[in-house]
Amino acid sequence: MSERFDEALRDIETVVAGEGTPRNKLRQVANLVRAANPLYSWVGLYYLRGEVLELGPFSGLPTSCTRIAVGKGVCGTAVQQRKNQVIHDVHQIDNYLACSPAVRSELVVLIWRGHEILGEIDVDSDELAAFTPADERFLDQVAALTAPFMAHAL
Ligand code: SME
Repeated sequence: MSERFDEALRDIETVVAGEGTPRNKLRQVANLVRAANPLYSWVGLYYLRGEVLELGPFSGLPTSCTRIAVGKGVCGTAVQQRKNQVIHDVHQIDNYLACSPAVRSELVVLIWRGHEILGEIDVDSDELAAFTPADERFLDQVAALTAPFMAHAL
């Protein structure tokens, strides 16, 4: 898996260094992240605007979860706790926002600028316990690469 993550990171570095609007770059990043692991069914970037997370570019089926208040769901909890969330079984989580019935596990990684949260990357999987520490490390690296473009897109 780590080779695929390394390859995806190289491709993401190329995208962020290349031409295009911040939004277009983030759309390509979402697609590259989703392609990096066959267990990822949906990848979305949420911008934090005040107390609400707003869905930006994503890869996968459209979702109704386009606006999520801080504290709501796994996504809003990540901001409230200022902490990435690794959910092995979404059915065990009371404060879970079900946006697709097929999703079984979820990883949310925060995007930082210094101590400020700019947004997050949300990854869904239709498999139980799909996410390992290697996935979180990969997404943390993607988050660091996207941070400059999140700030521009705000
Ligand atoms: N399940 C998330 C909502 C976002 S979707 O997965 C696209 C949550 O509980 O916050």
